[in-house]
Amino acid sequence: MRTQIGIVGAGPAGLLLSHLLHLQGIESVIIEARSRKYIEERIRAGVLEQGTVDMLVESGVGERLKREGLVHHGIELRFNRRGHRINMYELTGGKAITIYAQHEVVKDLVSARLAAGGQIVFEAGDVSVHGFDSSTPAIRFQSGGKTQELACDFIAGCDGFHGVCRPSIPVGVLTEFDRTYPFAWLGVLAQVPPSSNELVYSYHERGFALLSMRTPEIGRLYIQVGPDEDIHNWPDDKIWRELQARLAAEGDWKLTEGPILQKGITPMRSFVVEPMQFGKLYLAGDAAHIVPATGAKGLNLAAADVRILSQAFAEFYSSGKTQLLDQYSQTCLRRVWKAQRFSWWMTSMLHRFDTDSPFDQRRQVAELDYLAGSRAAMTSLAENYVGLPWD
Ligand code: FAD
Ligand code: PHB
Repeated sequence: MRTQIGIVGAGPAGLLLSHLLHLQGIESVIIEARSRKYIEERIRAGVLEQGTVDMLVESGVGERLKREGLVHHGIELRFNRRGHRINMYELTGGKAITIYAQHEVVKDLVSARLAAGGQIVFEAGDVSVHGFDSSTPAIRFQSGGKTQELACDFIAGCDGFHGVCRPSIPVGVLTEFDRTYPFAWLGVLAQVPPSSNELVYSYHERGFALLSMRTPEIGRLYIQVGPDEDIHNWPDDKIWRELQARLAAEGDWKLTEGPILQKGITPMRSFVVEPMQFGKLYLAGDAAHIVPATGAKGLNLAAADVRILSQAFAEFYSSGKTQLLDQYSQTCLRRVWKAQRFSWWMTSMLHRFDTDSPFDQRRQVAELDYLAGSRAAMTSLAENYVGLPWD
């Protein structure tokens, strides 16, 4: 087998990269460890920045997103049992976010790639990457009971945080920047119309809670829990009790409960590797960086990386120039670090830390209070939340 770009991983990064390359006339093959069903059902992120939405629509995979996505012009910050709306649309000159589940983006991209004759190898075993420091890069894997090799010009490592590409780079090349947080998120998908039209981020003395949604019928809710919490200690009624306590508000607002369809625990972590490239291997998305989910940036950063990578490959194949490829890591990292800063800031402001002193708690509330009353502070949050400009 031979192609121009060998892509490891059919998450949002790998699929979108393959799609964008196809639009530029560049061939790619995706090697994915899991089945199509698995990747199309995996519940993850749900908030798309304005720029991500525009990119999906402009590249021809936004039809269902435009039809089914929920466009939100604001979010609510809740503390001391009071809600404060941040009108992002007005503060950013007309930008919004769209609620559309990550696995729906994945479904749309898989069907677009397959309809265009694109090749995705699902359920590949023992995937490994070779020769990326030479002129003959290759991806080796098991498929159909046989060992196969995909020869390519470049490899795109889009295989997520636990993939094989990043660890294949020789020791000493990459510098890792890492922060773990002393908490995780317990997330549920619930069969109940969301109790608010917009997302509610709530700071509470029992810990952070988030009310989000997937559709007008399905809610997505999260609570801060301990970092090693076992999901078996969280029967559904205990989750609802905690959500009721942490989201409680003055007035007649009520959190409506419903059957929990799915639940899981996600660790919170900040992680970056520099550089995001070695030889002919380019890392994109979670393979290169992780953000805590509070800023809703993970999926959007993956999309931003592959936008830049596809442009760099396009320049190379059309002119032979490697300038954009050479700058790939540096270009991505500027955005990555701004998203890291924002995600860390949202996380620090809204969660309870074990080490919090009464001073820290007062300071957190003062920060939220300042934010809720300052147009300048709200504008800063809004422009980061809807997504910073590309350049
Ligand atoms: P991934 O989506 O991880 O895709 C990588 C792909 O590579 C996967 O399909 C995987 O199966 C495949 N792969 C892995 N190893 C190999 C291998 N060896 N060979 C071949 N293929 C391989 N972000 C938010 O903003 N909000 C959220 O609520 C949120 N929740 C999350 C919950 C979980 C459990 C996780 C893990 C992440 C969550 N994120 C969330 C982050 C967001 O989903 C990611 O940033 C996003 O998926 C990144 O896309 P990606 O394509 O880079 O990586
Ligand atoms: C989600 O809907 O899954 C979601 C929303 C906002 C976040 C994180 C996750 O900050």
